[in-house]
Amino acid sequence: MIDQPKPAHRIVLCRGDYCNLGRRADTLYARLRDAVDEANRATPGETPCASLRTANCLSMCAVGPNLVVYPEDDVYHHLDVAALEPIIERYVRCR
Ligand code: FES
Repeated sequence: MIDQPKPAHRIVLCRGDYCNLGRRADTLYARLRDAVDEANRATPGETPCASLRTANCLSMCAVGPNLVVYPEDDVYHHLDVAALEPIIERYVRCR
């Protein structure tokens, strides 16, 4: 079995009931997924910068939508699409 290289950053976006009110987390997920896919396609065979996962709740609903980046444990609250772009620039386009 060949080990896949681990991405440098693991992005976890909450898609729980509160964070996804009005389908806002779905919108954020679509933007993040496109950015991660684009970055990974641009550098085939290299260790990906980021992976994207979702959570059902990150236990900070009142300040959602929320996202956490590991291994840094960087936490982002009150996300919208505009706030997502610097996060993509920092963690997804890290070349
Ligand atoms: S629903 Fe997102 S933190 Fe609880």
